[in-house]
Amino acid sequence: MGNVVQQDILQQLEQLRKDASAALAQADTAEAMREWHTEYLGRKGRLTAILRNLGSLPGEERPLVGKVANEVKDALENALQERQAASAQAELEAVRRAESVDVTLPGRPQNLGKLHITTRTLREIYAIFTAMGFQIYDSPEVETDEYNFQLLNMPPGHPARDMWDTFYTTTPGLILRTHTSPGQIHAMREYATEPIRVILPGKVYRYEAVDASHESMFYQVEGLAVGKHITFCDLKGVLINFANQMYGEGRKSRFRKSYFPFTEPSVEMDIDCVLCNGQGCPVCKYTGWLEMLGAGMVNPVVLEYGGYDPTEFSGFAFGMGPERMALQKYGIDDIRNFYTNDMRLLERV
Ligand code: DAH
Repeated sequence: MGNVVQQDILQQLEQLRKDASAALAQADTAEAMREWHTEYLGRKGRLTAILRNLGSLPGEERPLVGKVANEVKDALENALQERQAASAQAELEAVRRAESVDVTLPGRPQNLGKLHITTRTLREIYAIFTAMGFQIYDSPEVETDEYNFQLLNMPPGHPARDMWDTFYTTTPGLILRTHTSPGQIHAMREYATEPIRVILPGKVYRYEAVDASHESMFYQVEGLAVGKHITFCDLKGVLINFANQMYGEGRKSRFRKSYFPFTEPSVEMDIDCVLCNGQGCPVCKYTGWLEMLGAGMVNPVVLEYGGYDPTEFSGFAFGMGPERMALQKYGIDDIRNFYTNDMRLLERV
């Protein structure tokens, strides 16, 4: 009778081992493995339940059953450990895979900005003139009527003042400069009676009805050279050299007589249209020429205001509009585009 019970218990143990092994193979989380351990090997688990029947066995049969029970227990515990180790390893692998960096992937493109077209044009102008020995001279944007007009040979009531629509401040005599020319007086008064070669870049302001070719704020770059024996040839040489560097070697240029109160004689310089090579197009209004700048020999009156004796010194001056130059170079049809920050234009140029 004892023997039958022993066989029965041994069978139960064998069944337990099979069941437990099969169940362990299905348990793939730490939680499931803990539950598995409770169910099969825990204090109230199935192995314990089987061993509880040990008491019904005759004494001499117990050792064998006990030995088999221990073997089953050890085997299952080992299996659990292996399974836990394998699962931890797999988890680690998964984390490693998820967190790994694929160095072969293309990088994320950086959205790089670039300098505004006005800034780039100004820097091109600076580079060309500084290479010819001109220094960059800063002068104020808020000016007096005296500097903006009078010292440039335009006393109150002078008809040439009509060429510049002016912003006045509430302080009498204080205005926003309409051109960079007053900087000539500042430079001369600072350096008199040394020779001068400067360019004077900056913003200027006009009380304008804004349209495709007029803005109320824009840039100018003024130039001034004062010294002994400076002639109109020097003016032409400097400006033709400038045009060739700015627009490409071999540009045609022409000088037309003009009038500015602060220069005598005065000229306007044109270059053959960079877009149609002088053939005629909408940008040059079918003339084949683009107006590039105003220039002339510094009026003796202005030299004197600046502190130079006009019987000893002479000089030339010029003034250009960088936006206009960029407009021509890039075929932009509206000067307002420069400062409305339209990305379509900014990305194109
Ligand atoms: N100041 C002039 C303007 O705004 C441009 C100019 C013309 C400047 C002739 C000069 C010059 O220095 O010589 O229209």
